[in-house]
Amino acid sequence: MPSRFVLNPVSYHGYGALAGVKDVVEDKRLKKIVIFVDRFLKENKISDKVVKYLDQVEGLEYTYFTDIKPNPSIKNVLDGLKVLKDFEADGIVAIGGGSVMDCAAGAAIINTNPEFEDVRSLEGVAPTKNPSTPIIAIPTTAGTAAEVTINYVITDEENQKKMVCVDPHSIPVAAIVDPEMMESMPYGLTASTGMDALTHAIEGYITKDANDLSDMFHIKAIELIAKYLPKACENDKEAREKLALAQYVAGMGFSNVGLGLVHSMAHPLGALYDTPHGVANAILLPTVMEYNAGATGEKYREIARAMGVKGVDEMSEDKYRKAAVKAVKDLSISVKIPEDLKDIVKEEDIEFLAQSAMDDACRPGNPKDPTKEEIIELYKKLI
Ligand SMILES: NC(=O)c1ccc[n+]([C@@H]2O[C@H](COP(=O)([O-])OP(=O)(O)OC[C@H]3O[C@@H](n4cnc5c(N)ncnc54)[C@H](O)[C@@H]3O)[C@@H](O)[C@H]2O)c1
Ligand SMILES: [Fe+2]
Repeated sequence: MPSRFVLNPVSYHGYGALAGVKDVVEDKRLKKIVIFVDRFLKENKISDKVVKYLDQVEGLEYTYFTDIKPNPSIKNVLDGLKVLKDFEADGIVAIGGGSVMDCAAGAAIINTNPEFEDVRSLEGVAPTKNPSTPIIAIPTTAGTAAEVTINYVITDEENQKKMVCVDPHSIPVAAIVDPEMMESMPYGLTASTGMDALTHAIEGYITKDANDLSDMFHIKAIELIAKYLPKACENDKEAREKLALAQYVAGMGFSNVGLGLVHSMAHPLGALYDTPHGVANAILLPTVMEYNAGATGEKYREIARAMGVKGVDEMSEDKYRKAAVKAVKDLSISVKIPEDLKDIVKEEDIEFLAQSAMDDACRPGNPKDPTKEEIIELYKKLI
């Protein structure tokens, strides 16, 4: 089977990468930019670290759009679209976590493909005709890799559903991944977004369409996240830089091959309870890994190795699979992620959650095809 890979045309990495924003704006000859950023990041002057470079671009005009909530809604996308239109913007600088970058992607796509203005028709693979308004994506969390993915996730609040939209036309024209933007993250946010990145790497590694090219990214990402996440949570500079890169590398992979059941089960938790995406994934990951183990061939041996487990070549199949799950669970506990969904999920919602997970765009990528009853059991195990 041939495989297709879509990546950013250009990306900048490491401390100092932010200066690249000026080069990209000049190179693309952008004249009127809307800065998508959430209120918190603007009020705390985190976006000013980028704006100081925009101020150096001669003749550039910009305005802000800040009305973006975590797990961004259809309304956020449409409000952002209105600002793009009113300002007659020719570009976007998105500064934030996945929520800001995804909101920008939705607005930017509709801006150039107005027939999708209802937003809901973008769910799944949207047959848009035109590339979106150019986006320069600057992540402030180290997790979603939304700066390099062809996916974006919008919450349909009315139907209590997270819509995964897949569209190569939405990929940012440039990603600027500077760990300086992540230094203000508190411990818990670093931990949960880092565990989101680990979930991308593991789900991407075992997904049905995984191939040698995507495996290369995912294994490296697992290795870096396992090694550097705990120190990144303590705000160690080198670890922040490594984690910023690792989450991007995971994105280079999973964006092109898909994810699996952890994400399918996490999305409804975001839609129903506004559970932070990384927290939902981190809690679900070990339990879903156990469920998937039988459908993953030798892959858990490589996951265990990348997680730093010693002696995996001497282990039986059963042993290295258990070791991989344990290593993931231990990492999660070490960065203080809760171990269950007791404080999140209400038992009477499980039927709805399981149906949403069945319908989720990430579910068909799971290595094992689950039944709704199995998903119900998986949620129940965690409450
Ligand atoms: N596009 C994709 O491929 C993809 C992949 C995974 C997840 N997602 C989506 O991304 C969203 C989650 O994004 P996220 O996990 O990055 O979090 P987020 O963008 O929702 O941000 C969470 C909170 O952290 C704050 N924050 C962000 N950066 C900060 C910083 N540097 N310092 C202090 N606070 C900061 C924000 O203001 C916000 O309140 C979800 O909607 C999820 O579905 C998208
Ligand atoms: Fe994710």
